[in-house]
Amino acid sequence: MRLNNKAIGSKIRFDEDNPYAVEFMGYIEDLLNQPLVKKLDKFDQHFRTSRLQHCLNVAYYSYRIGLKIGADPRECARAGLLHDLYWYDWHYKKTPQLHAFLHPRLAVKNASRLAKLSHREKDAILKHMWPLYPGIPRYKVSYAVTMADKYAAGLEVCYNWGSHFGTKIVSFVGGIFQ
Ligand SMILES: [Fe+2]
Ligand SMILES: [Fe+2]
Repeated sequence: MRLNNKAIGSKIRFDEDNPYAVEFMGYIEDLLNQPLVKKLDKFDQHFRTSRLQHCLNVAYYSYRIGLKIGADPRECARAGLLHDLYWYDWHYKKTPQLHAFLHPRLAVKNASRLAKLSHREKDAILKHMWPLYPGIPRYKVSYAVTMADKYAAGLEVCYNWGSHFGTKIVSFVGGIFQ
């Protein structure tokens, strides 16, 4: 497993006695232990970040954004973790539609098999590519997840950039949610 025990950019470790870490892990622990979620570790997302790490980053930042904007933090964390639940490498696999349009629908379908999703969680997973995906997010949870996805992707790119400048950006921007 290539999983860190914290979100990229965050200083809070998931196994520490921090109120955010304890609450967050309580919301997602059952899903993290599912073999089909663990399997996301086999795929890369942004450069060398595993898809599992990316999903965990999005889950954590969705949870934190959700707390700030008054969305249900549990739904934010769970929809964030499941938002990219598909098991192919889109760089190499030919798909019938553009990956940006296909994978949110696939993720909703796959996630529904693992857990009972609320209509807000489904909307959040389906619209996480907004504004690329047709359809406007309907709930605060959906806005938390789509914002967290972009925030996490930016941090992952800078983190994997590997330069001094990239590391500085990650520690500076990541400081928002310390
Ligand atoms: Fe995605
Ligand atoms: Fe994503």
